[in-house]
Order: sequence, then structure tokens, then C-alpha cells
Amino acid sequence: MSFTVAIDGPAAAGKGTISRAVADHFGFAHLDTGLLYRAVGARMLDGTDPAEAAETLTQETLARGDLRTPEVAQAASKVAAMPEVRAALVDFQRAFAARAGGAVLDGRDIGTVICPEAAAKLFVTASDTVRAERRYRELADKGVETTFDEVLADTRERDTRDSARAAAPLRPAEDAVVLDTSQMSIEEAVAAAIGAIEAARKGQ
Ligand code: DC
Repeated sequence: MSFTVAIDGPAAAGKGTISRAVADHFGFAHLDTGLLYRAVGARMLDGTDPAEAAETLTQETLARGDLRTPEVAQAASKVAAMPEVRAALVDFQRAFAARAGGAVLDGRDIGTVICPEAAAKLFVTASDTVRAERRYRELADKGVETTFDEVLADTRERDTRDSARAAAPLRPAEDAVVLDTSQMSIEEAVAAAIGAIEAARKGQ
């Protein structure tokens, strides 16, 4: 039987960490859908037409080492506003969601567009300053040279683009459980997510 968990929210809210922990806990497969848009964004930076890149995405492109850079993140947010790019990625995401044994998908439009029938939906968010602080520390740990103000400006620019676009904008599904992690530790956020998913499982 398939059981789909949709986890949406803005950049650096803790979606990735929570999704991996939840997938581990329940023994579900996990797909970071942001990686698909990042891979298309990276190919656009290389000069490939974004729609073509989305239609011909390969495992090799998804495994590229540069997909986590701020440049690729910005490019991802740009290609993510193109309806033809989004359309080309739908089938792959839905097939992943339907796999037997359960799946966790994290992104921006999983609960609203990709899997509106998901058994459990979470919208993970946090204030933009808290998210920028977390991202800044992550980048600094990796040795990337940047400042908090730069990361905050970058976060706000992506938020605006992701929320204001016409195609599948970032917003919580009406039936999503909203988890504001601004004041939570990772352990608290993971426990809250697991609790919400357990409740959805029991209610099935
Ligand atoms: O989650 P992330 O930061 O890796 O996502 C990169 C970009 O991709 C982000 O700016 C928004 C976009 N995205 C999207 O539009 N829909 C998704 N399901 C996942 C990501």
C-alpha cells in the first residue's frame, strides 16, 4: 500500500532534515524535489534550454556536486517559475509518491499540486531571519564566503519569487498541518512532524 507524506515550505525552514528523519523513522523512501529544480537550474547556467533540461533529466545531472550552491539555488527558483519546466517534472514525482511502502516528498507544491491526495501534509516554516541564520551557518561551515545580510537578502528574494509566481506558488494546502520551527530544536521539530503523521495514519 502506498502512503504519501507531503512536506512543503520555504527555503531553509528545516524541510530537508525533517523529511529525512521522518522517512528514516517510518521506513519510507524520500525525494527532495528541490533537487530536480536545482538540476534544471544548473543545466540552464550551462546554456541548456530549461524546458529541454527538465524533459531530459538524468541521474547523472541529479548527482552533480554543485547543486547546493547559492547560484544554482537562484537559477532553480527561476526555472521553477516556468510552467513547462514544472509540467515536465510532474510524472516523475507522482510515480515516486505512489511507490509501495510509503514515500516522503519535500518541496513547495507537493500538498497542493503534485499530491493533493497525500495521506499526511505538513507545511514547515520559520521566520526569514531564523532561516537565513541557519543557512548562513550551514554555508559558513562549508567554507563558503558570505555574510548574514547577503544570505537574508537571498532568502527573501527566493521567498518572493517562489510565493508570487503564477505556476504552483508556495502556499500551505488547506489541510496541511503548519509547523513553525522558529523556536524549535531539530529534535522537537522532528517529533512534532512524526506526531502529525502518526495522527494521519490512525485517522486513515
Ligand atoms: O528546496 P530547494 O531550496 O532545494 O528548492 C530550490 C528551488 O526550487 C526553490 O527556489 C523553489 C523550487 N522548488 C519548487 O518550485 N517546487 C518544488 N516542489 C521544489 C522546489
